[in-house]
Amino acid sequence: PIRARLTGVGGYLPRTVVTNDDLAQKIDTSDEWIRTRTGITQRHIVSGDETTASMAAEAARQALEQAGVNADEVDAILVATSTPDQIFPAVATQVQALLGITRGFGFDISAACSGFVYALASANSFIQSGLAKKVLVIGSEVFSRLLDWNDRTTCVLFGDGAGAVLLEAGAEEGEGVLSTHLHSDGRSGDILYVDGAVGCAGTTQHLKMLGREVFRHAVVKLSQAVDEALEANNLTGQDIQWLVPHQANLRIIDGMAKKLALPADRVVVTVDRHANTSAASIPLALNEAVRDGRIQKGDLVLMEALGGGLTWGSALVRM
Ligand code: ACO
Repeated sequence: PIRARLTGVGGYLPRTVVTNDDLAQKIDTSDEWIRTRTGITQRHIVSGDETTASMAAEAARQALEQAGVNADEVDAILVATSTPDQIFPAVATQVQALLGITRGFGFDISAACSGFVYALASANSFIQSGLAKKVLVIGSEVFSRLLDWNDRTTCVLFGDGAGAVLLEAGAEEGEGVLSTHLHSDGRSGDILYVDGAVGCAGTTQHLKMLGREVFRHAVVKLSQAVDEALEANNLTGQDIQWLVPHQANLRIIDGMAKKLALPADRVVVTVDRHANTSAASIPLALNEAVRDGRIQKGDLVLMEALGGGLTWGSALVRM
């Protein structure tokens, strides 16, 4: 059987940083409230020429460079995003052009905050089936575009950014992507959504969320997705070396770490500085921990995410 391994990581964060105190000057909130409820202290927000596609392309460039792979060797580009710069063409084809790639194929995946796990699972399947050998898997988001900046219950929670990995065919048994687990349930679509889309009359196109409901679902469903990944590989929480969770809220992340009995220094946290970057949060966190030397080759990494849909899932990777 063909197995996929992860050979490069990359990330891009917008130049402009907005702190909690900056927000507190414009809306009725405080650094103390945001910090204690979410763990967030600041977020990056796009400005000038920074777009979903430009950030995705830069993160992808870094992943290719680390893998030592030329752009023209890439067979497929999958971009997880809920915030494309245009309705079509897909961000993936824009990235293709920005990287000077004229072969293979690219398309976007819409699964909200679970988008990266969905894209990773899809890329893994393409590689296993022989459809592609080298796949760029990218999460890139400009959630600042979706926010009602007067709604303190949502605007303080999100940020912009992009992360990328390169998956390549050719892992040994027990290496690379070990398993992926995807779920969705449309019945809870109304607890986290964007109201309408461009051209839909009477809609605000703003993100709406019932925070407590999302929290409740996240704890239960992420636990199930984590158990599924462990059971599929005959592992226990103690076998996991690194948890790289979707970065929505420090309390949800701490809950998952506790469930796995993982000490805090085995959990990669970026939510404090990046806030929730939706589909970009896992590859951004992975990029940070690989580049600073925490995550090493051979380490067992568990990723998990939940987002609007609801969508949720997990992936287990031996680096
Ligand atoms: N600043 C100050 N006060 C605020 C703010 C703010 N930014 N936002 C809300 N409040 C107030 C509310 O108005 C409310 O006031 P009231 O009691 O006078 O009515 C009070 O704080 C408590 O509000 P709650 O919404 O009940 O606060 P809660 O403790 O549930 O925390 C939070 C809200 C942080 C959103 C929490 O529910 C949560 O983390 N939910 C998970 C949702 C999440 O992470 N979503 C991200 C997207 S989904 C994903 O990626 C998994």
